[in-house]
Amino acid sequence: MLVNFIDMLNKAKEGNYAIPHFNINNLEWTKIILEKCEDLKIPVILGVSSSASKYMGGWFVCSNMVGSLIKEMNITIPVCLHVDHGTKEDCINAINNGFTSVMIDASKYKIDENIKITKEVVEYAHQRGISVEAEVGSIGLTTDSENIYADINDCIRLYKETGINALAPAIGNAHGIYLEKPRLNYELLDEIKREISIPLVLHGGSGISHEDFEKLIKHGISKVNINTDLQIAWKKGLTNFLENNKEVYDPRKIILSGKEEMNKKIEELVNLFNTKMWLF
Ligand code: 13P
Repeated sequence: MLVNFIDMLNKAKEGNYAIPHFNINNLEWTKIILEKCEDLKIPVILGVSSSASKYMGGWFVCSNMVGSLIKEMNITIPVCLHVDHGTKEDCINAINNGFTSVMIDASKYKIDENIKITKEVVEYAHQRGISVEAEVGSIGLTTDSENIYADINDCIRLYKETGINALAPAIGNAHGIYLEKPRLNYELLDEIKREISIPLVLHGGSGISHEDFEKLIKHGISKVNINTDLQIAWKKGLTNFLENNKEVYDPRKIILSGKEEMNKKIEELVNLFNTKMWLF
């Protein structure tokens, strides 16, 4: 069932657990994630970045692929198909082509402009039953020299002036492999949680320690974005397979050889996020 994220994230917020957002990169990954989450009986958010969408053939291809797989695989869990870090144009295109949720990322602009663009996307999305996430501060790459922490007043303004359904504040998190332990600002997270009643999102979930995840969820994170961890897991399975199967050239066998490692990582993360609480 394709849905927006509003119910699943509100329920997660109430129940103090988090819903996983896994980025998809191709058909095989989508099948693996859907099958595993169905098996675990948990809702899932499938994130598609602009570049991943282009790689797969565009927003229309992505939404048809996900919709068809849900049908053919008899998937019964709630699945949210979400734009990850979209521009306004990405969000509108994706909505027009069947996505059920978007993240408008106008965080590179000053807060007034961020609010203006986010508000335009919210108006377009909400008329069509689509959920909207937005970002404050700068959640860059782990290799950036400086990531900018969200300003509490900017968070409050973006929340109050746009009507977004979830907020992704920069609290010391970043995308990719952390070069050192991330300096997560729990005081800032607590302050945001006190002022803002919508679910909060953590980007750059790969490589965060078990202790930090436990704390982050206790301190109000309801959605965690994961991409790099699944890439690493997939590559591990693939490398091992290629080393031991030098004669195999069937692309289906090669691409799927990362499945077992991906499944292990998905299950480990879902357990850390306590997503199974969704059943109760
Ligand atoms: P990682 O690749 O660090 O897991 O980040 C994923 C993400 O936040 C996608 O928006």
